Amino acid sequence: MCGIIGYSGHRPAVPLLIEGLHRLEYRGYDSSGVAFMQAGKLHVVRAAGRLSALEAKLAAEPSMFSTCGIGHTRWATHGAPEERNAHPHLARGGTLALVHNGIIENFQELRDELTASGCTFRSDTDTEVLACLIEEERKRASSLLEAFARALRRARGAYAVAMISPEEPETVYAARLSAPLLIGVGAGECFVASDIPAFLAYTRDVVFLEDGEIARVGRRKGREGGTDEARAWELFRLDSLAPIHREVTRIEWDMQAACKDGYKHFMLKEIMEQPRVIAECIAGRVPADPGRDEAEGVSLPELDGLAVPRRLRIVACGTSFNAGLWGARLLERFGGVPVAVEIASEFRYRDPLLEEGEAVLAISQSGETADTLAALRLAREKGCVTLGLCNVVGSSVAREADAVLYTQAGPEISVASTKAMCSQMAVLLLLALYWGRRRGRKGEAGLLAHLRALPALLDGELPSMRETAARIARACAGARSFFYLGRGPAYPLALEGALKLKELSYIHAEGYAAGEMKHGPIALVDPEFPTFVVALRDEFFPKIVSNIEQVQARQGRVIVLTQADGRNGCGKLHAEEIWTLPACRPELASFLALPALQLFSYEVADYLGKDVDQPRNLAKSVTVE
Ligand code: AGP
Repeated sequence: MCGIIGYSGHRPAVPLLIEGLHRLEYRGYDSSGVAFMQAGKLHVVRAAGRLSALEAKLAAEPSMFSTCGIGHTRWATHGAPEERNAHPHLARGGTLALVHNGIIENFQELRDELTASGCTFRSDTDTEVLACLIEEERKRASSLLEAFARALRRARGAYAVAMISPEEPETVYAARLSAPLLIGVGAGECFVASDIPAFLAYTRDVVFLEDGEIARVGRRKGREGGTDEARAWELFRLDSLAPIHREVTRIEWDMQAACKDGYKHFMLKEIMEQPRVIAECIAGRVPADPGRDEAEGVSLPELDGLAVPRRLRIVACGTSFNAGLWGARLLERFGGVPVAVEIASEFRYRDPLLEEGEAVLAISQSGETADTLAALRLAREKGCVTLGLCNVVGSSVAREADAVLYTQAGPEISVASTKAMCSQMAVLLLLALYWGRRRGRKGEAGLLAHLRALPALLDGELPSMRETAARIARACAGARSFFYLGRGPAYPLALEGALKLKELSYIHAEGYAAGEMKHGPIALVDPEFPTFVVALRDEFFPKIVSNIEQVQARQGRVIVLTQADGRNGCGKLHAEEIWTLPACRPELASFLALPALQLFSYEVADYLGKDVDQPRNLAKSVTVE
């Protein structure tokens, strides 16, 4: 995710902005920039790459008399990670600079309107559109605050923004909607930031912004040139500009904890981020207005120029392979495209027969996995259309594929992949619906509405999920081996659950198609060999119940991850542990089961004292064979 920092106070602003951006580096970025006021003039300095590139440019730009500014580290989701797309973005008339974290879903509509009124743009970003919209609104508003509010009321999607302007050279404006932003309150100085580490070295007093609120920090010079001693910080409702009173919160975290949002490990933070990840993954791709679902359906403009393939071959490794296996069923069912899923390291040496009209989809969070990249290159050599599904913008897979879909999950720091798989599954579901519609198939009535509601459903469930995971983990942490069983969409989940347990706790675990157990592996079942069964309430439920009974008949311990008895109550469940998730549309049940499996592995590994974020022998991106 992007990192935002703003400052207004009595100290030189730019060094504080740079220090704050360094504190936010762990969030991942590929470009950065600062804007600052000095002698009434607005300066903007930006650079692609690491912060050191920005610092080098700043060395040539005097800024020691500036006490007000904003800074940004950008994690590219739209637009290549180049300087021209880096933040801050200047409004066309140079009257303000803006930094932004999130996605403005209706930015194209706003861009078209502004272009029609004579605005021109230098970047591909939604941020520059918002900056120009504020400047445009300023012509009609009675104050900068009002112009800021009027423009934000027209923006749809998720944003955290900060702005400065020569009109009020000692003031930083900020606002948030579904993306974090907070105020740091110091002695005669104020910060705004997307995360606490950015200013924790200077103050522990924090004011948290809520969605639909605007903050104004620092002193402001009225339009007539007078300077009234404003409060160091003020909050307003976005819709009415009514003032808001909010208590200051004292932060007791240390810096290390603060980088993980207070979570003990990045992995836990990234598991708990999954509701937001789903929301950001579908933003701009699913109509914001449910009334437009049937008429418009899913939008994936990156693929509009490509024919729907006659067949699809998915190549991937590890967790990304499991995501591809999960998505294949939906791509066939909703998309009408026959799919084969292959482990990339096998595919690349098999001299595969690829048919006319067959496309190859490489799924890779990092976009740098050697085997997956080699498989993609082989597909290109064979004349196939190649697609990428990546999280890292501008990565090798993303650059070398004919078209790429980004998961927009934000950087995944923990070596064990969690939110990346969730976002890959979400994009694969959207791709299935998108191709289905292009082939003239009726969109799945109501599915998009349930998909929109999924982040809130998952968000509400995660706290109790974590408690249950921790309880069961303590009861099972002594096991030497585990079976994970699933059928249909739960089979890839069983593979992923086993992979997570192996790579985090070093306990041996086998993921298996439940129907396959009786062909040999069932010989392993005994009381010391727990079986974790993913029993989603779908058409496979009756079958999985009998698989559970087969294991129990051989004194196997069974943990069942299931759902509340929604529509098909067929088959009573009996097991040592029955972990019940909420009922939901069967196509979306995996988005509830996946975090449960991740949390179980996390709690086992943490309980056993393992290095959760950096498991032994593992690398975040396997760039070698
Ligand atoms: C998942 O937890 C592992 N870290 C690993 O299996 C990973 O999914 C695999 O190496 C593929 O990585 P990629 O998605 O970046 O290509």
